[in-house]
Amino acid sequence: MIKSRHRKRQIRANGENGRYAHVTGWGVEVPERVLTNHDLEQMVDTSDEWIRERTGISERRIADDRDTAVTLGTRAARKALKHADILPDDLDLIIVATMSPVYLCPSTACLIQDQLGATRAGAFDLLAACSGFIYALSTAAGQIKSGMARTVLVIGTETLSRITDWSDRGTCILFADGAAAFVLQESDTPGGVREVVLHSDGSGGELLYVHSGARPTWNGAEAPASLINMNGRGVFRFAARVMSSATEEVVQQAGLTLNDIDVIVPHQANMRIIDAAMRSLKISSDRVVANIERYGNTSAASIPIAIVEAVENGQIKPNDRIVLVGFGGGLTWAAALLEWEVTPTPASYGRDVLREGLYILARVRSLINRMLRLLEALFFRAPSDRQPRQRAGTPAKPPQQDE
Ligand code: COA
Repeated sequence: MIKSRHRKRQIRANGENGRYAHVTGWGVEVPERVLTNHDLEQMVDTSDEWIRERTGISERRIADDRDTAVTLGTRAARKALKHADILPDDLDLIIVATMSPVYLCPSTACLIQDQLGATRAGAFDLLAACSGFIYALSTAAGQIKSGMARTVLVIGTETLSRITDWSDRGTCILFADGAAAFVLQESDTPGGVREVVLHSDGSGGELLYVHSGARPTWNGAEAPASLINMNGRGVFRFAARVMSSATEEVVQQAGLTLNDIDVIVPHQANMRIIDAAMRSLKISSDRVVANIERYGNTSAASIPIAIVEAVENGQIKPNDRIVLVGFGGGLTWAAALLEWEVTPTPASYGRDVLREGLYILARVRSLINRMLRLLEALFFRAPSDRQPRQRAGTPAKPPQQDE
């Protein structure tokens, strides 16, 4: 039983019973198609100069018609499993952070679980908009530190282009598509996800919202269904404030100062927000990861994509202390402090082949399960099923294997 705030802090930092949650694998998947500011000039009344000056974005990636949050997330996950050199069956839990799922139900996490053939894993989606990845990381680390899971896959995956109003110049210049996945594993070596702070303020919900099919609307106003509605200036003011406060809070919670932090990875929403926050924290730009220029705002995927790029280009090095900080719709904001102590797993050709074989097997198993369910429906009908039932609403397309 937790008796004090101090003890709570100790559990978060050290793990209960010496359990720590380390990042052991990662993968990124961004669509190939590039949409430049010049392309946007042909679509809405804007200019390359305005977008670069006000946001720092030059280009962004947009998914093609075949890709969804599931397909991008699955490919990122496979890379992460390969990097951690684990098999799908090693996963205890899959957590997906997304605000652009194909379905509200089934979850994106379940569809990815099926694609991976992670037969032992629980799976669920988590919605905290652009703070989603930190929320998911926090949940995963909590599961591991409490001993409820040993290996957790955390994915941030978005196809925001599908929920963007392409006639609204205030939003369509910002949002983009992409995915990234991390494998977190239990370890008795201190480090990994050390501290997390999570915050929310639903009173600011109308600053950034997306409708589900289940209405009503904010303030009774009719809005285009399922598209991003945003008050840019309102979000900007909120973001500039919370980015610095959350960073300071998580560092203090760990008993450290900003000087102890090697690298900050902020949510990539607007370069001016990042600059303002880092200026107020007096953190020089060489300690800040920024790739917004090439990817725009990929919401829940933005922070992990930025981390992976920074690891690959050497900006984040083994043993670095890094702070992730994000904000988004909800309103939500969050920060995490990680010790990046990953030692590269030597690539094993045999395990690679085994993993690829298991993915093929997963597809076959999924198909067989679907067929068995069809047969079950044909041969084992419950008495009530024999009566034709009246169904409300329009029948929707059932989840497809590739979604
Ligand atoms: N191209 C050209 N002009 C544009 C434009 C565009 N794409 N978008 C807006 N404008 C115009 C506005 O209409 C306005 O014109 P007006 O003065 O004649 O009314 C002017 O530019 C200034 O608009 P404003 O909204 O004050 O611009 P801004 O400097 O705040 O930049 C955002 C707009 C959206 C880029 C900025 O507010 C922002 O990034 N906010 C945060 C959004 C965010 O991070 N969302 C994701 C949260 S996770």
